[in-house]
Amino acid sequence: MGASPPLFASFLFRWIFVCLASWIWWVPLVQASDIDWLAVGDLRGFIAPCGCDPHTDLGGIKRIATLLNREHMMHPAALIFHLGNAVSLQPQDAIKNQFIQKALAQFPLSAALYNVGELLHPDGLADLPYVLSNAKKKGLYQSQRRVGAYEIWGFSWSETIKADVETWDAFAAVYQHMWEKQEPDIHRILLFSGPTSMLQQAAHAYPWSLIVSANAQPYGTVVSEDERKNPAQLIRMDYPFVRMVPLAGQGILRGGRLTLAEAPSLTGLLQQKTAGKSMPPSVLERAEITWLDPSYEGGSPGEVVFAEYVAAEAAFFTEEKERKKKDSVSSPFIGAEACKACHLQAYEAWKGSSHAKAYGTLQEKNKHQISECVSCHVVGFSQPGGFISAEDTPHLAGVQCENCHGPRKAHATAANPVLVKGEGSMPCSTCHIQPHSPSFSRDAYWQRVKH
Ligand code: HEC
Ligand code: HEC
Ligand code: HEC
Ligand code: HEC
Repeated sequence: MGASPPLFASFLFRWIFVCLASWIWWVPLVQASDIDWLAVGDLRGFIAPCGCDPHTDLGGIKRIATLLNREHMMHPAALIFHLGNAVSLQPQDAIKNQFIQKALAQFPLSAALYNVGELLHPDGLADLPYVLSNAKKKGLYQSQRRVGAYEIWGFSWSETIKADVETWDAFAAVYQHMWEKQEPDIHRILLFSGPTSMLQQAAHAYPWSLIVSANAQPYGTVVSEDERKNPAQLIRMDYPFVRMVPLAGQGILRGGRLTLAEAPSLTGLLQQKTAGKSMPPSVLERAEITWLDPSYEGGSPGEVVFAEYVAAEAAFFTEEKERKKKDSVSSPFIGAEACKACHLQAYEAWKGSSHAKAYGTLQEKNKHQISECVSCHVVGFSQPGGFISAEDTPHLAGVQCENCHGPRKAHATAANPVLVKGEGSMPCSTCHIQPHSPSFSRDAYWQRVKH
C-alpha cells in the first residue's frame, strides 16, 4: 500500500543524483574511488538523533541510508559491512526495533555480523547477509560469506551469549588447518565483536586483510566530543589494521584499498610492531570516519521508513492517551499558571526560560507524539495525573515548576501554603544527561534559569 510513489521518487532521485555527481562532482568522485569498504553498526536501537544538542546531533537511519546509497551508486564494488547489534534490548523500544530492521533490509550490505544483540533478540530480524563463524549451531547466518575475492568471517563473543558461541580458542582449533593453507586468491576479512584478549588472538591467528571491530563500549554510551574531534581514538592504535565502528551509527567508518600487494601484510605489521618500529602511516590514514551530521538528513532514501516510524509512534501515543484518560486519577499537579499570583518573580523567570517552551520545541519538529521525547519535555509524563496530551492537559506542557519542585496542587490550593521543601523534587540530572545535554554543568545552567 502506497509503496510505488516513494519508490519512484527514490529512482528519480538516484538518476538525478548520478547525473549531477558525474558532472559537478567530478573531482571528488575521482578521489573517492579509493574507498573500497565502509562499515557501520552498533546502532543499539538508535534510529535518529534527538536533536537536543548540536554536539550530539549525529547518525540515525535516514543519514546512514543517504551515505550508503550515495557510495553504492558511485562505487558499486565497495564492500559495505554492518557490525550488528542493531536492536535495542529495552522493551519500550519495540517500535523502533521494527523500523530499524525495515531500514536495514534496504541497505546495500555485503555482510552483517550476527552479534550479541541479534542473538539475544532474534525475533523479527530482517533477512540480511548475516555471518557468524563461531556459532555452536545453525541459525539465520552463514559461517562465511564470499563476495568477489573476499571471504568475510564473523566472530562474536561475550559472557551473555556463551551458550551460543565458541571462544576464539575453540573456534580457531577447527579452522587452523584451513588458515595454514596459502590461498592467494582469497582475501579474508573478519568482522569482530568481543573482548580485547580474543581480538589479539584473532589478529595473530591469521593474516587477515582487515579486521573491523564492533564498538567495545557499554550500551548507552555515545560518541564523546573528544572522540568526535579525534576519531583516531576509535581506531585501535595497537592494532592498526583493526578499525572500530562508531557507536550508535553516528558515523560511518571508511577504509582504503584492500589489496594486499599494496599494504604490508598484517603479519608484516605485527613484526614491525614487535620490533618496536613505527607503523607505516598509509594504513592508518586510510581509515577515516564520516560523521553523519544534519547535512545527510535531506532527500534520504530512508525518509519513507522514518515517516512510517513516526506514524507508528503517534498511533502508540494515541492508544496510550486513551488508556490514560480512562484510568484518570485526581492529579497532584496543577501547572505553572497557578503559582503566578504568589510567586510572580519565579514565574516570570521561568516563563522567559526555554523550559517554558520545551513542548513547543517538540511540536515544531513533529516529535510531540513520540513518547520517548515527550517524557523530558513536559510535566509528569509517566506519573499518575501527569501530562497526557496537548489537548487533554495543556497546562502541563513544557518543563515547569513542578518538574523541579514536585507536584504542587495541594500547596498551591492550600489556604495557608507551607514549606514542603524537596518533596517529590527532581534534580536537573533527571533530564540533563547524555546524549541530551552533553555540556550541562549545574552552576552555569542554574545561572540561566535561577529565580
Ligand atoms: C532525558 C531527557 C530528554 C529526552 C528523552 C529528550 N530530550 Fe530533548 N532536551 C533535553 C534537554 C535537557 C535539553 C536541553 C539541552 C541543553 O541545552 O543542554 C533538550 C533540548 C532539546 C532540543 C533543543 C531545543 C533548543 O533549544 O533548540 C530539541 C529540538 C529537543 N530537545 C528535541 C527532542 C526530541 C525530538 C526528543 C526525542 C527523540 C528529545 N528531545 C528527547 C532532554 C531530553
Ligand atoms: C496562595 C499562594 C501560593 C501559591 C498559589 C503557591 N505558593 Fe508556593 N509558597 C507560598 C508561600 C507563602 C510560601 C512560603 C512558605 C514559607 O516560606 O514559609 C511558598 C513556598 C514555596 C516554595 C519554597 C518552599 C518549598 O516548599 O519548597 C516553593 C518551591 C513553592 N512555593 C513553589 C510553588 C509552586 C511551584 C506553586 C505553583 C504550583 C506555588 N508555590 C504556588 C505561597 C504560594
Ligand atoms: C524534566 C526535565 C528537566 C529538568 C528536571 C531540568 N531541565 Fe533544563 N531543560 C529541559 C529541556 C527539555 C530543555 C530544552 C527546552 C527547549 O528549548 O525545548 C532544557 C533547557 C535548559 C536550559 C536552556 C539551555 C539552552 O541552551 O537554552 C537551561 C539553562 C536549563 N535547562 C537548566 C536546568 C537546570 C539548572 C535544572 C535543574 C535545576 C534543569 N534545567 C532541570 C529539561 C529539564
Ligand atoms: C529547572 C528547575 C526549576 C524550575 C523549572 C523552577 N524552579 Fe523554583 N527553584 C529551583 C531550585 C533548584 C530552587 C532552589 C534554589 C536554591 O536553593 O537556592 C528553586 C527555588 C524556588 C523558590 C524559592 C525557594 C526558597 O527556598 O526560597 C520558589 C518560591 C520557587 N523556586 C518557585 C518556583 C516556581 C513558582 C516555578 C515555576 C513558575 C519554579 N520555581 C520553577 C528549580 C526550579
